[in-house]
Amino acid sequence: MIDGKKVLFSGMQATGNLTLGNYLGALKNWVSLSDEYLCFYSVVDMHSITVRQDPAVLRKRARSLLILYIAAGLDPEKNCLYYQSHVSGHAELSWILNCFTYMGELNRMTQFKDKASKHGDNINAGLFTYPVLMAADILLYQADVVPVGADQMQHLEITRDIAERFNNIYGDVFTIPEAYVGKVGARIMSLQDPSKKMSKSDENPNGGIYLMDDADTVMRKCKRAVTDSEGTFLYREEQPGLKNLIDIYSVCTGKTPDEVVQEFDGRGYGDFKMAVGEAVTSILNPLQKEAARLEKEKDYVDSIIKENAEKAGYYARKTLRKVQKKVGFPVRV
Ligand code: TRP
Repeated sequence: MIDGKKVLFSGMQATGNLTLGNYLGALKNWVSLSDEYLCFYSVVDMHSITVRQDPAVLRKRARSLLILYIAAGLDPEKNCLYYQSHVSGHAELSWILNCFTYMGELNRMTQFKDKASKHGDNINAGLFTYPVLMAADILLYQADVVPVGADQMQHLEITRDIAERFNNIYGDVFTIPEAYVGKVGARIMSLQDPSKKMSKSDENPNGGIYLMDDADTVMRKCKRAVTDSEGTFLYREEQPGLKNLIDIYSVCTGKTPDEVVQEFDGRGYGDFKMAVGEAVTSILNPLQKEAARLEKEKDYVDSIIKENAEKAGYYARKTLRKVQKKVGFPVRV
């Protein structure tokens, strides 16, 4: 609790182009959470270097992501929007937590196994201890809730285990974080393979709509979206491609899937795909304009970056000093 509000932490990596799935599934919901919680939304650049990055590209993407947070409607006065690498407490706590995490636990992480098989030439220790850095992110702010997708749930579980282990030894140091499970319907799938999540790293560029795609591209991708040959307009698992398009349309317009089915009942998929494209464009267009405007407001964005890193640093230090004392580091005089 900070100032009577529960604390929320989440982060995103600035690698790959963000997709409509990242926006509808995460960022858009983050905005609605900022009244209820004191929110820390980090651009987790330290996690990004667990795989090789081009430094100039990473730096640029990190800034664009932070700008996107603001453009999406996250108020930088109310929310703490900052780069993970600007608050050294993440690295410091991460080291301590490494000493309270077992190799066996980390070996069970499915994301590690997955990434290790994809980056066989660079299975570095950072990739292995990635979940510990994530635990540090969350515990550093004594977060009560963490909105995460299904793919990060295992990392949240290990965070809870590490925190409980630490508390069992040293007393109540860390708040045990809970998952904040977002509203249903926000899980956006690939347009080319609706059994897979829409991903930043999809090899098929038509599978994902990127947040920076222009209207023509969005229309083209929607038109090419895989549906089925049933020809019935229903919202059901048996028609996963159509179901996904209905979900997208529904989140973009605020209509329920049932209302969408009624609206398009008896009309062809072609018509509907056009409508989806238009709905998506009407969401992306203002976002892109605002991001472009902010990209030019260098001083304003710089001041937000500075102030928010200081704010995050303040809370981070509080936890860190407590932890350092508990484990027996000499007190600073
Ligand atoms: N690992 C998360 C992802 O790739 C990003 C992340 C880092 C995160 N630290 C976090 C998410 C803490 C939630 C809380 O999606």
